[in-house]
Parts: sequence; C-alpha cells; structure tokens
Amino acid sequence: MFTEKLKEVTLANHQQTEKILVGKLKSMRSVQDYITILSSFYGYFGGLEKQIERYLNPSNMADYEERRKTAAIADDIKVLGGTVPAVATGDELPRIENCLQAFGALYVIEGSTLGGQIISKMIQNHLPIQNGAGLSFFNGYGDNMQQMWTSFKELLNKAAMTPADEETMAEAANQTFARFKNWLEK
Ligand code: HEM
Repeated sequence: MFTEKLKEVTLANHQQTEKILVGKLKSMRSVQDYITILSSFYGYFGGLEKQIERYLNPSNMADYEERRKTAAIADDIKVLGGTVPAVATGDELPRIENCLQAFGALYVIEGSTLGGQIISKMIQNHLPIQNGAGLSFFNGYGDNMQQMWTSFKELLNKAAMTPADEETMAEAANQTFARFKNWLEK
C-alpha cells in the first residue's frame, strides 16, 4: 500500500518534528507558553489549509469541512485568553500547486491528530487546565480518530495512481514537515 511507503519515507521528518514539539511541551511553564505553541500551529496550519483548499474542498472531498483544524485552534487560543495570529505565507509554506501536493500536505495535518491525545495528556500534566478548556485541537477526533485516519488513508491510496503521483505526494509531505520544523524553530 502506498500509505505504508509514505509513512516510511516521512519517518525521519516525523521524528524530528516530534522531538522539537516534545521539547517545547516539556519546557512549558504557563498557559501563555501553551498559547504560544497553539499560535505556531495556527499560523502554519492556517496558511497551509488556505493553500490546500484551492485543490481539496467539500466539492471533491465529502468530509473536508470536518477535517479543517484552523477554527478549533483559533477557539482554543481565544478560550485561553490569547490573540489569534497571522498565518504563514509564501516560502514559509510548501509548494502546493495541484491536488496531489495538497494531499501530501493534508497527510501531515491529519497525521498530527494521531499524536494529539498523547500531546493533550502532556499539556494537562504540565498546566492547570480546567475541563479540557483549550484542548479541542489536540483532542482531535476523539473516539472517531481511528475511523477518520483509515478513511483518509483510503483516499490517499486511491489518489496516488502512478509511481509519479506517489513521488509527488511524498515530496509534498516531506516539504510540509520540513517547513513546519523551520516555522517551529523561528
Ligand atoms: C509530541 C509530538 C508527537 C507525538 C508524541 C506523535 C506521536 C504519533 C503517534 C503515536 C503516531 C501513530 C503511529 C502509528 O500508529 O503508527 C503518529 C503518527 C503520525 N504523526 Fe505524530 N506525533 C507528534 C507530533 C506530530 C506532528 C507535530 C505532526 C505533524 C505536523 C505529526 C504527524 C504525524 C503523521 C503524518 C503520522 C502518520 C504516520 C503514518 O503514516 O502512519 N506528528 N504520531
């Protein structure tokens, strides 16, 4: 299956991104530090979703609205008393000029929900957060997580019809991870 290969070829980037984020989560000392992390996600995923939506949207992907993350991140920032920042643009983002590249980028966004529950626990261990306030993005799809991930992988496997398609998607996924690492380290 293509998605198994995709996991393999993006593994190094996943591990490096995870390491940067775990460092930031462990050094959190206040809700303000958490708002700063959420703002980084908002800026990057917000800019990325704008690019992706030029090629993937409810007209060709039935559950696209459900997969949008930006509104949930903005709500989390506001609930905690923060201000929603501007989004990434231009070279801060990967190049997304067709549907295959949009799928590669969306793979990174959707995959981030898989680690979300672990991340949510780390945040609650570090901060005095009440009743899950500000955790909606990291809690993600909750009990539907596995089902949403399986159906997304099916879409990817259908969309990658040739080895060249696979290459385009994998390259976009790796570039999405790489530019996110730069963004997080800014
Ligand atoms: C503290 C940080 C993170 C932790 C602990 C974490 C953990 C995980 C875990 C447990 C999985 C599931 C692995 C499996 O079931 O095979 C996963 C998958 C994934 N994560 Fe993360 N993750 C983190 C951060 C991120 C971030 C920030 C992104 C993207 C920006 C990301 C992208 C992905 C992707 C794309 C997958 C899917 C891999 C596949 O194809 O199966 N992760 N992560």
